[in-house]
Amino acid sequence: MPEPNPAHPTPGAPDAPSIALPAGAALPPGLVLRRPTPDDHGPVTAVIADWWGLPPTTHLPLLLPRLFFQHFADTSFLGEDDAGLAAFLIGFHSSSRPEVAYIHFVGVRPDLRTSGLARTLYGAFFDEARAAGCTRVEAITGPGNRRSQAFHRAMGFELTGDTEIDGVRAWRDYDGPGEHRVAFTRTI
Ligand SMILES: CC(C)(COP(=O)(O)OP(=O)(O)OC[C@H]1O[C@@H](n2cnc3c(N)ncnc32)[C@H](O)[C@@H]1OP(=O)(O)O)[C@@H](O)C(=O)NCCC(=O)NCCS
Repeated sequence: MPEPNPAHPTPGAPDAPSIALPAGAALPPGLVLRRPTPDDHGPVTAVIADWWGLPPTTHLPLLLPRLFFQHFADTSFLGEDDAGLAAFLIGFHSSSRPEVAYIHFVGVRPDLRTSGLARTLYGAFFDEARAAGCTRVEAITGPGNRRSQAFHRAMGFELTGDTEIDGVRAWRDYDGPGEHRVAFTRTI
């Protein structure tokens, strides 16, 4: 059994970075935020189809492999309450573009929506990214995810693309043939 390495605290363990809420923000009653661990990979990917309103056969969970829970836990959040998993934000600070922080996935349980929870998670992520020297946050979604586009617009992101797809500005073939994406960017 290897000795614990203090330079690499176990994500989710008591020595993982604590999570500070943005000034003036509050969590829903009973909701506790923590860092995700690799054990959260199964429970998180299990709710994606339901939370995103997609058929159970969706391949979307494959875009969130276990590696994110192993290697990006210290820049991610997971919320739980008495009913179980309540919300998650999986993000990281870019190693090739140190000025950029990237939000890969965010989800809020349907019964907790529109009460500012995702705004609070984003605010906490922005604060940590700023403290780490980042000046910009980026994310992407598909042209069909109008809810994500509305949410990111409300969060102050600019939507970019090189063409119009289904009435939305998007980058054609961004992630391969037919895999068009809307890109979000904002300064922090
Ligand atoms: C998108 C999602 C994370 C938003 O979570 P939420 O906790 O309901 O969002 P908040 O209550 O913090 O809303 C923040 C802002 O976005 C706006 N917003 C949120 N959902 C919106 C929607 N469906 N349509 C329009 N605006 C929306 C809110 O009005 C709010 O703006 P305001 O503060 O100016 O009033 C949530 O709907 C979700 O989990 N959706 C399914 C997963 C998904 O699509 N994730 C994003 C792509 S990875």
